[in-house]
This record gives sequence, C-alpha cells and structure tokens, in this order.
Amino acid sequence: MEVAAASGGGGGAKAPKDVIAKHCNACHGTGLLGAPKIGDKAAWKERADHQGGLDGILAKAITGINAMPPKGTCADCSDDELKGAIKEMSGL
Ligand code: HEC
Repeated sequence: MEVAAASGGGGGAKAPKDVIAKHCNACHGTGLLGAPKIGDKAAWKERADHQGGLDGILAKAITGINAMPPKGTCADCSDDELKGAIKEMSGL
C-alpha cells in the first residue's frame, strides 16, 4: 500500500494532476478552441474576476460554456475534483 503523503487529497479523490492529464490537458494544454492555457494565470484571473471568482468559473465548468464541454469531459468528477483541477491549472 502506498501512502500519498503530500497529496493533500485523501478520501480517494482524484488528484488534480490526473484529472488534468486525462481530461483537461487536451484543450487547456494548448489553448485549443480558445481555452485559457494551463499556467496562464492572467487569462484565468480575468475570467474569475468577471464571473465571481473560482466558484464562478467552477460553475461554468460544470455546466459547460461554448466549446467547453460539461465537466470538461470528466463526467464522474465531483465538484471538488473539478475545482482542484481548475486551481492547479489557473494558479488561482
Ligand atoms: C474540448 C476542449 C476542452 C476540454 C476537454 C476542457 N475544456 Fe475547459 N474550456 C474550453 C474552452 C474552449 C474554454 C473557453 C470557453 C469560452 O469562454 O468560450 C474553456 C474554459 C474553461 C473554464 C473557464 C470557464 C469560464 O467561466 O470562463 C474552466 C474553469 C475550465 N474550462 C475548466 C476545465 C476543466 C477543469 C477541464 C477538465 C476536467 C476542462 N476545462 C476541459 C475547452 C475545454
């Protein structure tokens, strides 16, 4: 049994990095279809500022927005798992 000492996740939640690698990176890695890029904090911050912060853009990620599919294709992700992935990508 491995102990994920520094993961901070716990409870069997998906790690943000895994969610991103499997689901978000396809678009957010390169900015495909106008997606804000991973690590481009300014682009994410501008969205967050206009949409009620991290929780505001989380809500859009859950329902989908334009070319962004609902839950970013991670249909079995919890809200918290999505939020973790968004935090990791945005640096917010
Ligand atoms: C098929 C491509 C695609 C995938 C896969 C994808 N996204 Fe996106 N995402 C987009 C695009 C395009 C936008 C910009 C949408 C717009 O504003 O027109 C976006 C925007 C967002 C936003 C900002 C929403 C807002 O309110 O401005 C968040 C948050 C987000 N994505 C999270 C995620 C997460 C988390 C994942 C993985 C679980 C993911 N995305 C996977 C294409 C994708």
